[in-house]
Amino acid sequence: MEQAFVAVANASEIAPGSFRKIEVAGRAYILANIDGTFYAVEDLCSHEDYPLSYGCLHGDHIKCSLHGSRFSLKTGEPQEDPADTPIATFRVELADGQVWLDPRRRTN
Ligand code: FES
Repeated sequence: MEQAFVAVANASEIAPGSFRKIEVAGRAYILANIDGTFYAVEDLCSHEDYPLSYGCLHGDHIKCSLHGSRFSLKTGEPQEDPADTPIATFRVELADGQVWLDPRRRTN
């Protein structure tokens, strides 16, 4: 495991089809379990900087509760207006029953 990774959750505590808001160094992220694979995105809608953690999952997308844009948790790409800019996605690894996040490097 590279040193940049930070343990952020026990994998067993986030069931498939759910997510949790986490914070690393004062920055908020969404950690989602999609069919056993974990994804991390910044907890910030690219439309008006609204927390995406107020929204809900739709398959492998998260829907912003303010104006309804959906974002891919895999790529960060918006799927619906009004957002037209991707959200930040981050590397996630599973090891020793823990979910590890690399908050220093975006993957998109
Ligand atoms: S703030 Fe998220 S769609 Fe407008």
